[in-house]
Amino acid sequence: MTTLTHKISSGKNVLITAALPYANGDLHVGHIAGAYLPSDIYARYLRLQGVNVRTVCGSDDHGVAMVLAALKESSTPAAVSAKYHARQKAALEGIGINFDIYGATSRNKFHTPLSQKFFKKLFDQGCFTKKSSEQYYDSAKASFLPDRFVRGTCGYCGTKEQNGDQCENCGKELDPTVLKDARSVLSGEPVTLKQTVHWFLDLSKFQAQVAHWLDQAIIRQHTRSYVKGLLAQGLVERSMTRDLDWGIPVPLEDPDAQGKVLYVWFDAPIGYISNSMELAERLDGNPDAANEWWNSDKTDVYHFIGEDNTIFHTIIWIAMLAAEGDYCLPRGVIVNHFLNFQKPGSEVEKMSKSRGTAVWISEYLAGGGAPDVLRYALAIIAPEESRSVFNPADLVARNNSELGATIGNLFQRIIQFTRSKVSPEIPASDPARFTDLDKQFMATLQRCHEEVTADMNDFHFRDAITKLLEFGRVCNRYVDEQAPWKMIKVDPEQTKVSLAMLFNALKFLAVALAPFLPDTTEKMAQMLGLSKDERLWAQASTPLPAGRELIEPMILFPRIEAEGDQK
Ligand code: MF3
Ligand code: ZN
Repeated sequence: MTTLTHKISSGKNVLITAALPYANGDLHVGHIAGAYLPSDIYARYLRLQGVNVRTVCGSDDHGVAMVLAALKESSTPAAVSAKYHARQKAALEGIGINFDIYGATSRNKFHTPLSQKFFKKLFDQGCFTKKSSEQYYDSAKASFLPDRFVRGTCGYCGTKEQNGDQCENCGKELDPTVLKDARSVLSGEPVTLKQTVHWFLDLSKFQAQVAHWLDQAIIRQHTRSYVKGLLAQGLVERSMTRDLDWGIPVPLEDPDAQGKVLYVWFDAPIGYISNSMELAERLDGNPDAANEWWNSDKTDVYHFIGEDNTIFHTIIWIAMLAAEGDYCLPRGVIVNHFLNFQKPGSEVEKMSKSRGTAVWISEYLAGGGAPDVLRYALAIIAPEESRSVFNPADLVARNNSELGATIGNLFQRIIQFTRSKVSPEIPASDPARFTDLDKQFMATLQRCHEEVTADMNDFHFRDAITKLLEFGRVCNRYVDEQAPWKMIKVDPEQTKVSLAMLFNALKFLAVALAPFLPDTTEKMAQMLGLSKDERLWAQASTPLPAGRELIEPMILFPRIEAEGDQK
């Protein structure tokens, strides 16, 4: 297994990035489950472990995706990216995902110079081959058709209607040599081919470095196998420039470079660094302090991404960083799969904007949806090992019968009962009275803490939240077995013992659920009067001292009436 436990104790700082979304549309639950929620859960967890963490994200403003969005909205790429940048940022914040910086590759003042410097350094080292090759061309529009300007059939797996840069189904990169039946997105016409000059990075030269990195990287098993498979097939040359008028100009004097821009997948990951510089300028007063995070053995970098970004982060980006030489390679790349979608009574299908098979974050929030309920519903089906299915109707059941019935109800019944029948504060208990059942309960709590810690260290967030919910069920069973409402009449002292056990459990849940349910655990902590130190991960299973005053319990997960309930 991974050795992250060791890493945490070795006191390193951790820089966490989440894939920079194209600023060409709104975010839906698939995006959140893929990259943003896992990165947020992990960052919150590490912070509770006392690790010095910085989180970096922002919009990916360049590339054909933006030009197409601008055409569709009769706008400009700059305006479109500014618009969706703001909407994406608001949606993320709305569900409690607050990156330390949410930058924008088209507006970060460090980004263009850094990307050009990066390209120039690789150029000066002779990493690029300048070559004329045939690229797709739309004669009617007199325009080259890079990447998503072309759609066609994947030559690897046969999936139809794929973007010209990458197949959504098999994840492989496509180019004119493998895409079939290619049509221009601009005119709908079959494409022609035309010669044009570009700068190619020969990835095969970095094969050994990438393989070496892969062996040491913290990465899920399926990702490792997938990338190994790609390496076994052999790496090829990739053009790092494009014929496009939106993006970062190719920084070469060469007349052939005129009017060309860097490939968006060249500049976008550099956005992790330029955004870190903007953050360092803000926090440290000096953008170059970002080097302490990118170029230091005191820091580990983790990239959180969705499966479609795998090649770019585990091969091309690693090759780029190895070639450039000034930065450390990432310690890990954490890849999640896609989320499929299932409407009640319908088949499972892909999430798609045009077919309306998605839940949009902004709509969910505007409809009064609680951030934590969505976070929970996505974490408990997290597509960590394979694709999983999101069913919007599940949100109601997850809220009512899992969160509400198990966790919310537990807090409610324990605190309510104690205040009304026992004492206005957390009761003191006599350890001499601990029964076997009590000791067993304490051991279960302890074990849950250990197991969940191991899961969190291994990026198994779905297992962690599943175990925490299961622990909530154990607590409810313990309450039912102890039946304090009966016991209080015959043995008040023993009742206090049971309650003390349960308050320890409530404290544990208030701490261990914090990476998943930030708003709700805030309320839990308030109800139990937890101090900042008591809320640290290491303190999760230490007992809650007696004598603390209890406030009126809050409803943690208000019941949601399912559509049709009242009819
Ligand atoms: N914009 C890409 C996407 O949405 C992700 C870019 S990640 C980065 O798929 F590394 F390039 F930033
Ligand atoms: Zn394919």
